[in-house]
Amino acid sequence: MRPTRWRTTARASSSTTRTSYTSTGTRSAGPPAGRRPAWRPSSGTAGAATSSAAGTTGSTSPSASATSSRPGRRAIVLDRDEFPTDRYVLEGLASSRGLDLRWIGRDPAAGPSVGEIEALLDRDVALVVLSHVDYRSAAIADMTAISAAVHGAGALALWDLCHSVGAIPVDLTTGGADLAVGCTYKYLNGGPGSPAFLYVRSELQGTLRNPVQGWFGRRDQFAMGPGYEPEPGIRSWLTGTPPVGGLVAVEEGARLVIEAGIDAIRAKGVALTGYAIELHDAWLAPLGCTLGSPRDPARRGAHVSIRHPDAGELTRRLIDTGVVPDFRAPDSIRLGLAPLYTRFVDVWTGIDRLRGLIR
Ligand SMILES: Cc1ncc(COP(=O)(O)O)c(C=O)c1O
Repeated sequence: MRPTRWRTTARASSSTTRTSYTSTGTRSAGPPAGRRPAWRPSSGTAGAATSSAAGTTGSTSPSASATSSRPGRRAIVLDRDEFPTDRYVLEGLASSRGLDLRWIGRDPAAGPSVGEIEALLDRDVALVVLSHVDYRSAAIADMTAISAAVHGAGALALWDLCHSVGAIPVDLTTGGADLAVGCTYKYLNGGPGSPAFLYVRSELQGTLRNPVQGWFGRRDQFAMGPGYEPEPGIRSWLTGTPPVGGLVAVEEGARLVIEAGIDAIRAKGVALTGYAIELHDAWLAPLGCTLGSPRDPARRGAHVSIRHPDAGELTRRLIDTGVVPDFRAPDSIRLGLAPLYTRFVDVWTGIDRLRGLIR
């Protein structure tokens, strides 16, 4: 089965004219001419900082700060199907501060809907934490509509971008995000050990305070003076010595994303995941698999989950054949089809081997 028409416009070459970007907070903004950045912080400001914490363990400080900034409010809204780190961080915060957690209990294969969130919002909610792209199903949440509902209730919205950044366009300004966190080791190609990033909407940078007061966030760091005075703006969210090896890796990884252009990456992601779904329907559905991802490409990120009761065992056996998916409990085989370097023949081979294991 061949993929339907596709032009390889997302190929990354090794030459670039401008390498500056803000996604790691280490350069000023400006992708190569004509290319959109992988994500867009508030215009004209350095909207993001890296963290020495990996991935969304970096959400601890912004979540703590956001709830402190709404002192009369005692509730946080989150998703029962959220990635474990986000749940555990917020459970820890709630138990240490006596806050309530309000859980969205949605259909796992669908993203959270505005209606479900509105039903949980009132004047007691300080913060809503959600993934932009669901880690298991790849469902894309409507960031703009949900953030607007959150703001309507006077709360703040924190978005986890782990499965969005570098895979689909993310516009945090239009999306109304107050805070965003994410890892750089997936679609930004930094690999394990590369740092988290944090975005704080520019209007909030003067009011939200980093609860972890380290010397990298201190005004006039090398004066090593008494007491903590935060650096102005996003730099106050830096804490300690960054993981320099990981920063170097993600600098190059993010440069490749910028050079290829997020629109081309997105187009290839839609085509790759669409092809995986065609193969699933033709080969795997008759063998007892079901699709765990949205069929509508506009609602789907760059991975596809295939559900089967023996997903754990099948994943282990697939890895033995040289195809490396992720098992995501309870029953999903997640195929991460990173558009920069995944070929259509890789999708064909992976799903063909899976079919061979089930038959
Ligand atoms: C949605 C989401 N959030 C967070 C993380 C990871 O967090 P950490 O890097 O802290 O392990 C992942 C990892 O896969 C994820 O999928």
